[in-house]
Amino acid sequence: MARRRQLYEGKAKILFEGPEPGTLVQYFKDDATAFNSQKKGVITGKGVLNNRISEYLMTRLNEIGVPTHFFIRRLNMREQLIREVEIIPVEVVVRNVAAGSISTRLGIPEGTRLPRSIIEYYYKNDALGDPMVAEEHITAFGWAHPQDMDDIVALTLRINDFLSGLFLGVGITLVDFKIEFGRLWENEDMRIVLADEISPDNCRLWDSKTSEKMDKDRFRRDLGKVEEAYQEVARRLGILPEAGMRDLKGPETMQ
Ligand code: TMP
Ligand code: ASP
Repeated sequence: MARRRQLYEGKAKILFEGPEPGTLVQYFKDDATAFNSQKKGVITGKGVLNNRISEYLMTRLNEIGVPTHFFIRRLNMREQLIREVEIIPVEVVVRNVAAGSISTRLGIPEGTRLPRSIIEYYYKNDALGDPMVAEEHITAFGWAHPQDMDDIVALTLRINDFLSGLFLGVGITLVDFKIEFGRLWENEDMRIVLADEISPDNCRLWDSKTSEKMDKDRFRRDLGKVEEAYQEVARRLGILPEAGMRDLKGPETMQ
């Protein structure tokens, strides 16, 4: 395969130029960071698992009519072919159960079911530490238009309902998650689509019976058994790579 031009390297993924205009190749790394990169590490096999988990969840969401950037296909263990979108610089967080920053900020004990699902927004800016913002900031500074925000809220609530049910079906509580949206241009028309990834890197997933954490909090909080937790999520979803752990290491770059 021809060498691909690298366009962007993020903390957990690399974007390469795709084979056709308007496409990109998204490569999933094993690198993990937390607390705005103050903590760094490697979770062996994470890239392979997140590629597969994100493909699976985005495909299921597509099937119920949620537009996503993942319209094309997974290419190999660590790469997927996606549509190029203009990322809206806002992290959308949905919370069903209190954990993490809402517990610290508002003093709500972790594990408290929230009276209803709460949507929060954070401005995607590492230099500022991704500060929390209100819809007012997003529209006033032109990061998204009010009409875009209507679409984002409607899509986010559907995504939350669908994923909560999907995970509950495999014995997992979807505590919270972070998603990103992008603008997809087709001629003169623009659509808001789900972008980035959905994986245990950006969700809190707890075993429904034991409340055991099955997500990146195991890395953030040094709880151990990090790789095993990501594998268990894939196993429960019925998508653990067939060859099991043997395939998870893989070459560092596949170009
Ligand atoms: P928080 O409780 O730390 O605000 O995180 C809420 C959710 O967002 C949790 O599922 C983890 C996810 N998240 C990210 O994906 N990226 C981030 O940079 C942060 C801070 C949280
Ligand atoms: N990925 C984010 C970072 O490095 C934070 C996190 O997921 O906790 O900063």
